[in-house]
Amino acid sequence: MTVHRSFEEAEVAEVPELFGELDPSPRLLMGPGPVNLYPRVLRAMSVPIQGQFDPEFRRYMSQVMALYRQVFRTRNEQTMLIDGTARAGLEACMHSVIAPGDKVLVPIFGRFGHLKTEIAKRARAEVISLEVDWGTVFEPGQIEAALKQHKPRMVAICQGDTSTTMLQPLADIGALCRKHDAILFVDATASLVGNTFETDAWQIDMVATGLQKCLSGPPGVAPVTFNERVVDILKHRKHVEAGIKPPDLIEGNGPIIQSNYFDLAMIMDYWGPRALNHHTEAASMLYAARECARVVLEEGLDQGVARHVLTSEALRAGLQAMGLELYGDARHRMANVTGVIIPKAIKNGDKVRAEMLGDFGIEIGTSFGPLHGKVWRIGTMGYVCRKANVLRCLASFETVLRRNGFATTAGVGVDAAYKVYADAAH
Ligand SMILES: Cc1ncc(COP(=O)(O)O)c(C=O)c1O
Repeated sequence: MTVHRSFEEAEVAEVPELFGELDPSPRLLMGPGPVNLYPRVLRAMSVPIQGQFDPEFRRYMSQVMALYRQVFRTRNEQTMLIDGTARAGLEACMHSVIAPGDKVLVPIFGRFGHLKTEIAKRARAEVISLEVDWGTVFEPGQIEAALKQHKPRMVAICQGDTSTTMLQPLADIGALCRKHDAILFVDATASLVGNTFETDAWQIDMVATGLQKCLSGPPGVAPVTFNERVVDILKHRKHVEAGIKPPDLIEGNGPIIQSNYFDLAMIMDYWGPRALNHHTEAASMLYAARECARVVLEEGLDQGVARHVLTSEALRAGLQAMGLELYGDARHRMANVTGVIIPKAIKNGDKVRAEMLGDFGIEIGTSFGPLHGKVWRIGTMGYVCRKANVLRCLASFETVLRRNGFATTAGVGVDAAYKVYADAAH
């Protein structure tokens, strides 16, 4: 006998496990990123999507370009989104500029310098890596000496390396790269919006970033910008898929860019007036990126940086009052993430992090490579970067540390942070 079941029953019967409805526990994300989203950004992601050739959607694309020109402080026409996490932006920029055999200089002051070395190698560059001790940054003279000696086509460097919490001063590097005819590419993923960044004034040729740090958006889109020096290189490498190539398009005579997805020569034409088809735009991510920029620009770039500076000062005063030592060269700390040396009394740094998360719902970060087990990283970025969160974090951290054997006086951390806010108000 046939048993008639409803469509829904049949579906359930065929899928043994549907798991629960999505219901993630609320978390305060105070690690090195991702961080909590601006509520307006979450709302923007739920509006209906459109196709990338809908004239209305093309206007949103142009608005995104205009908004990110302001965020990057640039007049570069070529300012757009690469679909993918921040490293998608790095790959697009590096693979599109570097031709096999080109020399690329990578000054490394943490994990993300090593990442750029690895991407440059995959692009078949001849890579010259310069290293300084983790916790420090480069002097311009060290970079100039390497420019003179190696004459690279590109210098690829981080502004802020989250792995060490250090901020590389960049104001002088652009002029040096111009003098020695190198393209300066900056990875501003971790630092943009929390620290001053000047694309044009610092003569930076190419920049890539992500949404998930001080822009307080979801990971998944990488804003990039680049100038005419880069466009000239890309023109020589322009090759367009046969199926979409317009008859009047002139291809370059340089080597083809190895990745189709990350081919900036094609992506430029997709975003530009030609509107040449490439990928299907990640529409919800574009809405998110648009809203992130609107929130940040409404606050004002300088005001946003000042908020990050004040918040990290309050956090750092609190941590130090508790008897903790901060990591890295104090003159070059990022304003949005703080390294804390794990004190000797704490036998297991990961247990402290687990208790912060499990008991207080606060995520703080671990460290990589040589710093693993030695340093925690606490982020104060974007939407998270505010007084209430600093006070919550300090109060919870103090409790967890005391329960794990670290001797400190109850309330000193929170009081020290309050004092920073009180002093700033006068
Ligand atoms: C400086 C820097 N560059 C690149 C990345 C890579 O970003 P993603 O994980 O979004 O690919 C990160 C991530 O933390 C970063 O901090």
